Amino acid sequence: MPMNKEGMFKGLRELLGDRFRTDLASRYCYATDSSIYRALPDAVVVPLNTEEVAKIVKLANEHKVPLVPRGAGTGLCGAAVAIHGGVIVDTQRMNKIKEIHPESLYCVVEPGVIYDELNLALKPHGYVFPTAPGSGEACVIGGMVALNASGMRAIKYGATRDYVLGLEVVLPTGEVLRCGTRTLKNSSGYQLEKLFVGSEGTLGIITEVILKIVQLPKNKAAVLATFDTVEKAGQTVTNIIGKPVIPSSMELMDRTSIEAANKGADAGFPDVAALLIIECDGPIEEVRREIEKVIQVCKANGALEVTPTEDLKTQEKWSTGRQSVLPALGRLKPELKIVSLADDMAIPISNIAKAVMAFQEISKRNNIIVATYGHASDGNLHTKLLIDPENVNDWKRAEQTVKEIYDAVLGLQGTVTGEHGVGISKAPYFKVERASALATMKAIKMALDPNNIMNPGKMFDWDKKGIMAPLRYPAEVK
Ligand code: MLT
Ligand code: ZN
Repeated sequence: MPMNKEGMFKGLRELLGDRFRTDLASRYCYATDSSIYRALPDAVVVPLNTEEVAKIVKLANEHKVPLVPRGAGTGLCGAAVAIHGGVIVDTQRMNKIKEIHPESLYCVVEPGVIYDELNLALKPHGYVFPTAPGSGEACVIGGMVALNASGMRAIKYGATRDYVLGLEVVLPTGEVLRCGTRTLKNSSGYQLEKLFVGSEGTLGIITEVILKIVQLPKNKAAVLATFDTVEKAGQTVTNIIGKPVIPSSMELMDRTSIEAANKGADAGFPDVAALLIIECDGPIEEVRREIEKVIQVCKANGALEVTPTEDLKTQEKWSTGRQSVLPALGRLKPELKIVSLADDMAIPISNIAKAVMAFQEISKRNNIIVATYGHASDGNLHTKLLIDPENVNDWKRAEQTVKEIYDAVLGLQGTVTGEHGVGISKAPYFKVERASALATMKAIKMALDPNNIMNPGKMFDWDKKGIMAPLRYPAEVK
């Protein structure tokens, strides 16, 4: 049977009333996420519970209409853009924190719960969900699971995957699957809950999440170390981990990122080629011992200045300065905009120095500004390109730059995405990186979603040439 949108829409109207929308303004609002892409969906639905989601999915499957699940729209790679049209399923109103069990180390939440709000609720119990994504004040748990999101603290605390104990998922047929457990350990068969982590809406819609929680750290201290080359900063990262010290975070920023944070967010960082912000947490004696080791390694690697602090306000200022880089890059040069391309690769930690050097050379060779910063302690870096997005030639140079960056990343045994997901912007390179797993991934997809209704055209299903469509910028030859 061919796609029958009108048949599905009739059912959605009856089911959801004004929470089913086809007006242009609503479709326009949901046409893009935080990526460089845009495609108008045919409709938007806002379900309130699992039963409604199941009915929506059944209708979509019956009428063969694509569905694209969406959380807060903070994704940077286009995973929530409806490139084949269809219906966007906005899960933000399923936002209840259903249970918190500090004594059993887990909580149960709906997918639309905001990361920071969950942690506000956990704090009085002395617990935290510690993955710390940069968009924590806006991003939601369902999206974090769908993309295996993380952030600054993954080196010590892991990514979202490491906290998912169980899930409720509406499968592409409309059947409700409950997988995983409420226990910290389980060896009971296939760990299906992990299959949906990083599935980016291609295998179903997440309607409930059982998350492990951990104790809030008692103390923390940090070191700001500055360097005259980004290579030295990169090598210091490798040597700190090899010391061994596992910090709770270790953020690297290159000159462009520092300049952006200073200019755009008044961060007050020293004007240097590169810096590291290294944080250790835990019992105070252990923190002090680790900070001492960190200082030693920084000095041994030729740091210009090494500034330790236990003052929480100073740590907050450094951390806020680092977190400002993404928005601040957009204000660095009035004529250029920041585009999230090649934006979150991960590399084995021992290759960090080689990677940051390679990115600098690629930037020079292509005459394009590439800001490099990120969670270097776990090998996860961000490279952001600054271009005039209305100029076709800039996009061409960007495309070549991205290709060279990913060639370097794969040559250094890395992965094209460490925390933001594949979406559109990494799809062709993901296909190269995961070549030997694509057939297995497709077989799983076909088994669960025989009509290919869930977020079609993404990841292994990407069949467009390049990554510059469907852009949200009108670009022309200048
Ligand atoms: C971050 O590290 O701040 C976030 O991942 C967003 C980004 O800068 O790409
Ligand atoms: Zn990040």
